[in-house]
Amino acid sequence: MEMSMIEKTQEQLANAGLIAVVRAKGMEAADDAIHRLIDKGITAIEITYTTPGASELIAKFAKMDGLLVGAGTVTEGLQAREAADAGAKFIVSPGFSGELADEAASLDAFFIPGVITPSEIMEAVSKGFRILKLFPGGTSGISYMKNLAGPFPDIRFIPTGGIHPGDVEKWLDAGALAVGVGSQLDKVSAEDLQRIFQRRI
Ligand code: 3PG
Repeated sequence: MEMSMIEKTQEQLANAGLIAVVRAKGMEAADDAIHRLIDKGITAIEITYTTPGASELIAKFAKMDGLLVGAGTVTEGLQAREAADAGAKFIVSPGFSGELADEAASLDAFFIPGVITPSEIMEAVSKGFRILKLFPGGTSGISYMKNLAGPFPDIRFIPTGGIHPGDVEKWLDAGALAVGVGSQLDKVSAEDLQRIFQRRI
């Protein structure tokens, strides 16, 4: 059976392992940051909606071969629609909103709502979601994610927030589908990142 676009995106995120979260004060700074990430070998990028010109940046980089581009910090249905129209293949929210989830379900993009508590997970599950952003994952820690696997064995998490690239492998080994890394990506070189990626092969 042929994979749907959303299933394909899910697989691409899992293969990437690391999702680079881009949050910048201006469009030019974001553009520069994305180019630096591409030079470092990053293949999945989440452009957050606190970044000015997020939709334009998504439209620009979504056209690039070999790069999976999504939207982040999406909190309203209108943003989700704009992001999907701009070409975002995945849409990430920091939290769970039923209204946003309903809107996102009508779009041709992989929607990943954010959760941190068991009650939020139950709400997301009731709406049919199985892949959830765990935010702030780094603050909660790997043991927190492992504890959630007891009552929620079918859920895969994408922990994000406060995670160092050097710890990505540990999260993946603990069962994360992929890991979101933002500000701390600046601290590592392309060589460091290559070492992180190579350990996974
Ligand atoms: C964010 O909200 O910017 C992302 O969760 C990334 O967080 P980080 O910069 O702490 O990695």
